[in-house]
Amino acid sequence: MSSSDSTTDNRLVVVTGGAGFIGSHTVDLLIERGRRVVVLDNFSTGRRSNLARWAEPQHSLSGTSPALEVVVTDIGHGIFAALAPLTAKYGPVGQIIHLAAQVSVVHSVANPLVDMQTNYGGTLHVLEYARAMGVEKVVFASSAAVYGDGAALPVAESSPIQPLSPYGIDKYASELALAYYQMVHGVAGAALRFFNVYGPRQDPTSPYSGVISIFSDRARAGKELAIFGDGEQTRDFVYVADVARAIVAAASSSRGTAPINIGTGRTIAIKELAAIVVELCGGRSAIRHLPARAGEILQSQALVERMHQELGVRAETSLADGLARTLS
Ligand code: NAD
Ligand code: UD1
Repeated sequence: MSSSDSTTDNRLVVVTGGAGFIGSHTVDLLIERGRRVVVLDNFSTGRRSNLARWAEPQHSLSGTSPALEVVVTDIGHGIFAALAPLTAKYGPVGQIIHLAAQVSVVHSVANPLVDMQTNYGGTLHVLEYARAMGVEKVVFASSAAVYGDGAALPVAESSPIQPLSPYGIDKYASELALAYYQMVHGVAGAALRFFNVYGPRQDPTSPYSGVISIFSDRARAGKELAIFGDGEQTRDFVYVADVARAIVAAASSSRGTAPINIGTGRTIAIKELAAIVVELCGGRSAIRHLPARAGEILQSQALVERMHQELGVRAETSLADGLARTLS
């Protein structure tokens, strides 16, 4: 059992971006396993409602102190000030799960400086806190976007790194920073390269939102779906509860690791996905094709052996089951 096993660890665990889609599922799992969680979030895309269940008075860990504390802050400023009152009250931070980010590949192509400041700069702020305060482990949300196209499928973690977007570059730069802080400052790190995550609470309202949330939202309303390009591009869609288990497993070990793919090892073309979602929603939506997006990868499929071996986690949820849960 590691020193930070989630059943015995009384230290705080910080989740940046914890009010977001993946973050709120991770918070749920951590609190269910008895951890006290601090969320740092600027609510740019996150929502209070994602964490609402933990605001109920019965969710306290000792006496009346809540299992969840939420601090509204930008990850690029004031992380020390944001955490100081809470560490004074509850003691030190054991782990940071760093998920706060600008999440759209398309947005990063149009706004590379914003992406760099939030996604790379944000990671440095987290690592500086970890170094100064002796945080044991930082788990970082990296992405399949670091690979680009051209690697043999399924993509192994040792494949060439060839990002096609500022988003992919900043995720890889963050991975390098994580490795540097581990080597030079002794902060254990784990970069998890998420493939395409989907499930309940993924926000469909922005044109930059994840494709399953957009398709589901529009198909339920009988509206037309747009496919960018010919729809032959493939993605490895992994259900959010499986991702949350992988994140918590990574946080529960005090050891640093090499980057780990988080996916299913299975893949589907976007045009096939569109047809399935339309059919599940009653078959009323038309599908039309728009020009392909810039900076996109074409084929994506994870090799998941390292996830199984390092984290002991398998993505158990089939796409059929995950879509059913998402649509319900
Ligand atoms: P999300 O938009 O739901 O979550 C991001 C959260 O970060 C939100 O709560 C948002 O308010 C917060 N945030 C953004 N900028 C911030 C800032 N400057 N300061 C503080 N908080 C800030 O998106 P998500 O899909 O849950 O993504 C979580 C992480 O996983 C991100 O790092 C993303 O890049 C990564 N990721 C996601 C996917 C996916 O398919 N969803 C795939 C690969 C990697
Ligand atoms: C997604 C994540 C990104 C992550 C990456 C890892 C989001 C918003 N982006 O990027 O954070 O790092 O996976 O693999 O969660 N599409 C359509 N029609 C639409 C919307 C999308 O055809 O209405 C297509 C896109 O062109 C793309 C595919 O669906 O080919 C997936 O798009 P999207 O969900 O935006 O994700 P990625 O760009 O793969």
